[in-house]
Parts: sequence; C-alpha cells; structure tokens
Amino acid sequence: MSPPWLVLIIVSSCTPFACISRHISVPEHPDLISMIEALELTRKFGDFTAVDALSFGVEPGMIYGLLGPNGSGKSTTMRMLLGLLRPTLGTAKVQGYDVVTQSVEAKRVMGYVPEEPVLPERLTGYEYANYVADIWRIPRDQDRQEEIDELLTLLDIKDASDDLIETYSKGMSRKISLVAALIHRPKVIILDEVQAGIDPRGAATIKEILNGLRKKNATILMSTHILEIAEQMCDKIGIINEGKMIAEGSMKELRAQAKGELSLEEIFLELTGGPDMQKIAEYLEEVS
Ligand SMILES: Nc1ncnc2c1ncn2[C@@H]1O[C@H](COP(=O)(O)OP(=O)(O)OP(=O)(O)O)[C@@H](O)[C@H]1O
Ligand SMILES: [Mg+2]
Repeated sequence: MSPPWLVLIIVSSCTPFACISRHISVPEHPDLISMIEALELTRKFGDFTAVDALSFGVEPGMIYGLLGPNGSGKSTTMRMLLGLLRPTLGTAKVQGYDVVTQSVEAKRVMGYVPEEPVLPERLTGYEYANYVADIWRIPRDQDRQEEIDELLTLLDIKDASDDLIETYSKGMSRKISLVAALIHRPKVIILDEVQAGIDPRGAATIKEILNGLRKKNATILMSTHILEIAEQMCDKIGIINEGKMIAEGSMKELRAQAKGELSLEEIFLELTGGPDMQKIAEYLEEVS
C-alpha cells in the first residue's frame, strides 16, 4: 500500500485542494506567533515578477484578507503557500512548516478553495465529498455522513448532491469545493475568492461558518474583491499591488493610515488607483 505522504502528493497534484486526515497527528507549536508566515516571498514568471518580496503573517484564529486589483498576485501568493507553486525567492511557513522543504507536513494542515475549482464532473456532489473524505482516511461512519450532510445542507446543495457535478452552476461548484475543503477540519483555510458568484444567502452562510471556525481557532486567509465582505469579516487586511504589499492592518489601522473615516473601498481606490473618469467620459461621448 502507498505510504500516506505519497497519497497526499498524488491528491494535491490532481485535485485543487490540500487537506489532511483527522488521523494524522500534527504536532502543536504552542508558542507559534503566526500560523501563516511569508517572508520576502517572490515569484517570477520569466522576467515578470508576479509576487515581489511579500512578507506578512497570519496569527492563529485570525481572518486575514488579501486584497488587490486583478493580476496583483493574490492567487500566486496563495498557490505558493499551498506548495502548488515554488517560490522563486523567499520563504513561507504554515504552522511552522516550511512550504517547500516540509511541504507534506504543511499541506496536511490546510484546506483550500481555489479561484477556479477543478472538479470531477462525472461524480455527484455527494460522491465527491465522500471521495475526498476517503482520501483523508476519515472513517466511513455515521459521524462522517452526518458531517457531510450537514455541510451540504448548510450550503443549500443537499438537494443537488445526487446530481453530477457537471450539472452544477458556478456557485454550486464553489460550494461543493468548500465542503471538500472543510471535511477534514483544517487548521488553516485558504479561500481564493470563495464568495464570487455565491448568492446572498450562501454568502451569509459562508460568513457565519468562517466566523464560527475562527472562534474555534482556525486561521483563515481569504482573497476577495467584495470589499464589504473584507470589511465585515477580516481582522487584518493586506492590500497588494503589482506583487507588493502597499498597506496592511486592521480596518482601524488602515483608516488611521489613510487619515480619515474612509470606507475600505475609498482606501483601496486611493492606494491602487480609481477609475479613469476622463477616459470613461470620452468613451461615453463616442457611443452617444
Ligand atoms: N502560470 C503563469 N504564467 C505566467 N504568468 C502568470 C502565471 N500565473 C500568474 N501569472 C501572472 O501573475 C500575475 C498575478 O496573477 P494572480 O493570478 O496571482 O493575480 P490575482 O491577484 O489573483 O488576480 P485576480 O484578482 O484577477 O484573481 C498576473 O499578471 C498573471 O498574469
Ligand atoms: Mg486570483
């Protein structure tokens, strides 16, 4: 039989999530300050630097929001933390494990919902949830079935759980991907725009689930373009632009840095640049 770490590598390379069996014991580091720690993390694609010496830390039990314009390097950063992409320079640790040299140990503590979930279309949602649970060697007992049912019900996809995933809408695919990421109760949850395309009820449910998990000391790193969600949910926000951290702090700290009672949207647009009103006016002039 294959050793568990081999299974882990195969699973990580052929599915979009990285998770752990509840039965693999992960050593605790009681004095750990950051559950996620990136130090000068850098990723180049050829001559282009997508992530540029990014340093940040996420403390246990914190929701950290990674914000930034399209192409600013959020997903690339997350993929490096997950061990799915090798950093060109710099280091990153998850629960104290180096994501390159201790990638198996690091992957074991993480759950991940990617920006574009790649799912097995010929499985039903229910089969997929069980397939993931099997991979993490969660016993096929009543508790497991109840937990899967609970997550499917909470996310309003229980009724569709016997349908093939190929019939799922974008929002439903994201929801089943979240179910799969949470099944093994990861200590570190990485969510790349999980709320995109989710209906208001689903978004509110996800918010409540994540808040609840945070209270149980899960550490969450999420990216979103919905600034209202970031403002409401995140203990700390990092704004990146062209791969660099340009502002970081709690909402209160960001407001203090911006020297005013600004909304996160106003702070974001001030830092990363707002719409070009002149060009928009010119365009509208042309079309009218
Ligand atoms: N495999 C790749 N090869 C070449 N360039 C890449 C690759 N992956 C990402 N990039 C580039 O790196 C930059 C950062 O991309 P990334 O996907 O991290 O941005 P993002 O902040 O997640 O954007 P979005 O908000 O649109 O999701 C972009 O310019 C992108 O084109
Ligand atoms: Mg992205």
